[in-house]
Amino acid sequence: MGVGIKISDLNAWYGTNHSLQEIQLDIPANHATALIGPSGCGKSTFLRCLNRMHETNPIARVTGKVLINEVDIYAESSPVEIRRRVGMVFQRPNPFPTMSIYDNVASGLKLNGFRSRRVLDEVVERSLRQSALWDEVKDDLKKKSGASLSGGQQQRLCIARALAVDPEVMLMDEPASALDPISTAKIEDLIFELKSQYTIVIVTHNMQQAARVAENTGFFLMGKLVEFDSTHKIFTNPRDKRTEDYITGRFG
Ligand SMILES: Nc1ncnc2c1ncn2[C@@H]1O[C@H](COP(=O)(O)OP(=O)(O)OP(=O)(O)O)[C@@H](O)[C@H]1O
Ligand SMILES: [Mg+2]
Repeated sequence: MGVGIKISDLNAWYGTNHSLQEIQLDIPANHATALIGPSGCGKSTFLRCLNRMHETNPIARVTGKVLINEVDIYAESSPVEIRRRVGMVFQRPNPFPTMSIYDNVASGLKLNGFRSRRVLDEVVERSLRQSALWDEVKDDLKKKSGASLSGGQQQRLCIARALAVDPEVMLMDEPASALDPISTAKIEDLIFELKSQYTIVIVTHNMQQAARVAENTGFFLMGKLVEFDSTHKIFTNPRDKRTEDYITGRFG
């Protein structure tokens, strides 16, 4: 199994708050990895360190090394390049509200200088098919805006927008927590489909969801990665007492 993301000695701060401490982790390529842990333990901060979003906060600081498919993203790459290689989806769907469905998906390509109508059409269709939204929107691509879709559709639109620039990694921060059960199931199916082609890292508070979609799971607590193992092992026979307490609902 290849390593998609290799993290060593990763530390992150907001001002003096040392929010991530000495994280070491190899995230397998072309698999889904779930991150769990109580609120405030550093899951979102960790994701934001994987696409250099953390440093956009003026009080934030990061040290350590993150290799994505063997490229050191802090030493050998620009934030702009990294954000093309690493897509991100957030808890609240954030489509460009006034842009059409088509333009939402094509926006990243246009920013990267693609102009060919034929190429844009192809990528928009492929991305919307990949995010399982195509059939629902194919007749309204240029008629409807991003904001006119339901929450679940908006989230799949955001996934399509992220996929359109052909990323290597997809980071998902509680992507289904604002959605109804049917939309949630669609997102989970999608993660299942996508993980053969992309390295997926998903933060979730829903342990059943982690168990359904992710081969491996990491448990964070107070800025530290307490345990990382196969999802099955984490949920049935964790090594660390703190992991066990968390998954059995004794705290968090
Ligand atoms: N923008 C910010 N400014 C200052 N401190 C922050 C900021 N964002 C997060 N923190 C702090 O960093 C720590 C980790 O927060 P983070 O958002 O990464 O947690 P989380 O595990 O994603 O929590 P949740 O499950 O609630 O989303 C917390 O102590 C939090 O207060
Ligand atoms: Mg968070």
